[in-house]
Amino acid sequence: MNIPEIKKSFFRELGKAHDAVDIENVRVAYTGRNGKLTAILRSLGIMPLEERKKTGPSAQALRKEMEEALKEKTNALAGSGGRPASNVDLTAPGKKFSRGHLHPLTIALRDVRRIFSSMNFSVIDGPEIESEYYNFDALNVASNHPARDMWDTFWIKQPEPEEKDPRKHLLLRTHTSPVQARFMREHTPPFQIIVPGRVFRYEATDAGHEINFNQIEGLVVGKNANLANFKFILEDFFRKFFKGKKIEFRYRPSYFPFTEPSVEVDIKLAGGKWLEVMGAGMVHPRVFEYAGYNPRDWQGFAFGMGLDRLTMIKYGIPDIRFFYSGDLRFIKQF
Ligand code: PHE
Repeated sequence: MNIPEIKKSFFRELGKAHDAVDIENVRVAYTGRNGKLTAILRSLGIMPLEERKKTGPSAQALRKEMEEALKEKTNALAGSGGRPASNVDLTAPGKKFSRGHLHPLTIALRDVRRIFSSMNFSVIDGPEIESEYYNFDALNVASNHPARDMWDTFWIKQPEPEEKDPRKHLLLRTHTSPVQARFMREHTPPFQIIVPGRVFRYEATDAGHEINFNQIEGLVVGKNANLANFKFILEDFFRKFFKGKKIEFRYRPSYFPFTEPSVEVDIKLAGGKWLEVMGAGMVHPRVFEYAGYNPRDWQGFAFGMGLDRLTMIKYGIPDIRFFYSGDLRFIKQF
């Protein structure tokens, strides 16, 4: 295109511009870095002298003319109520938005996962809506056993209330232990897993109890996984979780239908009092049978701890209900 042609098409396009964006597009197309007129202005330097003498002044004049026309058009649009050239100040400093952060339970869960992963545990998941079978039967909790009263349960309403098949009878899992049974049905030892997850109990809430909380289940099965291994792993875990703080441990005999023998573990941090942190024990042979293992071939240990409780101890949180209150004044402190 020569200069008269450029001029003609510039004014044609500018005439069609309806708003600031259109005008800007025209500007870029002609006097922008790769604009049509800019190309000619750039080439002046390599033109033969004669031609440059002719083209130079008219190109410069056209540039002035274009700049004025662009300005005029912009003002005209603004004056006639059209969109102003720009109502966005691209040079204004950015706003600082709060980026949010992790919930204390999430922070603690990540620590737990990291520590157990470093000990070669796999992290396994299971359903929150569970069958009565996995929550109780497969864990050796007989249907008429008083131990079923140990967990007050949210049952899911059945389409047919008379349906009593425990595999179809659904509930909100009362602990993460059913995932032991699920995992064993599909895997052959040796293995070591943890199962973090949400559990539900139908009970009155207070500073130490919620109807929904989180557990970390652990299961280690092998040819000779034993309580000494359990004790080592557990104490190693707690030392890492509490970042090397001095901790005392206390093991009390206990009872769970799915472990034998069973223990409960208490910890005491310097200056604190004894706190119960988990139930555990050697996997009961009946649980292996339910899973399809020969209990003479395998042995192992299982444990279950409350993530909420650990997090409360770690951060000095006095009431479990804070975790679920959605109160930012609480959550922002972590
Ligand atoms: N499931 C038990 C509870 O919720 C804890 C537990 C897990 C005990 C594994 C022994 C072995 O109280």
